[in-house]
Amino acid sequence: MVWLLHVLVPESQLRLQVELEKVIELGVWIMAEKLMHAVQYSGYGGGPSGLKHVEVPIPNLNNDDILLKVEAASLNPFDWKVQKGMLRPLLPRKFPQIPGNDVAGEIVKVGEAIKNFKPGDKVVAMINPAIGGALAEFAVAGEKVTVARPPEVSAADGAGLPVAGLTAHQALTQSAGIKLDGTGKQANVLVTAASGGVGHYAVQLAKLGNVHVTATCGARNIQLVKSLGADEVLDYKTPDGAALNSPSGRKYDAVIHCATGIPWSTFEPNLSENGKVIDITPSPSSLITYAFKKLTFSKKLMVPVILNPKGENLDFLVKLVKEGKLKTIIDSKYPLSKAEDAWAKSIDGHATGKIIVEP
Ligand SMILES: NC(=O)c1ccc[n+]([C@@H]2O[C@H](COP(=O)([O-])OP(=O)(O)OC[C@H]3O[C@@H](n4cnc5c(N)ncnc54)[C@H](OP(=O)(O)O)[C@@H]3O)[C@@H](O)[C@H]2O)c1
Repeated sequence: MVWLLHVLVPESQLRLQVELEKVIELGVWIMAEKLMHAVQYSGYGGGPSGLKHVEVPIPNLNNDDILLKVEAASLNPFDWKVQKGMLRPLLPRKFPQIPGNDVAGEIVKVGEAIKNFKPGDKVVAMINPAIGGALAEFAVAGEKVTVARPPEVSAADGAGLPVAGLTAHQALTQSAGIKLDGTGKQANVLVTAASGGVGHYAVQLAKLGNVHVTATCGARNIQLVKSLGADEVLDYKTPDGAALNSPSGRKYDAVIHCATGIPWSTFEPNLSENGKVIDITPSPSSLITYAFKKLTFSKKLMVPVILNPKGENLDFLVKLVKEGKLKTIIDSKYPLSKAEDAWAKSIDGHATGKIIVEP
């Protein structure tokens, strides 16, 4: 190109032309640098086919934000429930929405107010669920629920942790009062849907306490859930499984209820005198039961749980993974270009462990 111009135009014009080409090249480069591949939806409903692949600007940072190059994200039922409109009109805050809250990645830029992290740090973060943004090449997280990720913890294993691991942790420690250092008094805990994202962490965390764990899952996952530490496992499709009967005849002090659609009347006969059902998917009927049990001073209680994410708890979980005391079971991994397949898999409701999406 340049030699041809040499022949056709005088020297001064040639220099101008070359400079112009450089400016254009730089402009194209800058624009390309500022765009990223993301997956977003523009309205309620539509399931996997409502997700569109787009090129959008890399998000801008506020003072207290961290910009991550995403290495792995994990999906939660929350993500597609928001798309479905189940939290309307609160969420999403705006359309189009890039979904996803669980990420692991490398920090590329930090806001001025960020003191504990710097570019190059590997981290695990839970993005504010009201904002989302994990299904993209870059994502913005706050500092509060961002923690260091040591080299022993892979991006996928770390990305599985935030929503599911923190919910399991909160349900066991805060709602059920289990001490994960094993110093508490002996307790019998039932984990329903123990093969799912929350349940598989709940089984492993419960076994760090002084706990006998009964678990429910489908027949195909019984061996896996035993390998995670469950003392006894029920196939939820059998009559005993559906009735939640402990094979050893135990009554449960706490149920970490990760399945849905099980009525109070099924739990009630299986609970110890002060037994609690910790319900992580509170439905209108479980909220009525919660209120009724409270008002009637019942010793057996229904306790609805909404995740209140805390950085220190995420840090605790990451360290457990590093020490080999907690595993992320990965159901499947999808490239970002196939995020809609990951989405369909989550909606299907039969994941074993976590579904991971990688840019
Ligand atoms: N409150 C909160 O803040 C909060 C936080 C996180 C999650 N959640 C909610 O908690 C629920 C569980 O989340 P998740 O991420 O664990 O879901 P998930 O990973 O999609 O759960 C799928 C697993 O559940 C099993 N399962 C389904 N129904 C079952 C039943 N009746 N008995 C035993 N196992 C059953 C499935 O086994 P099969 O394939 O064998 O059927 C599958 O392995 C969702 O409703 C989610 O929205 C709430």
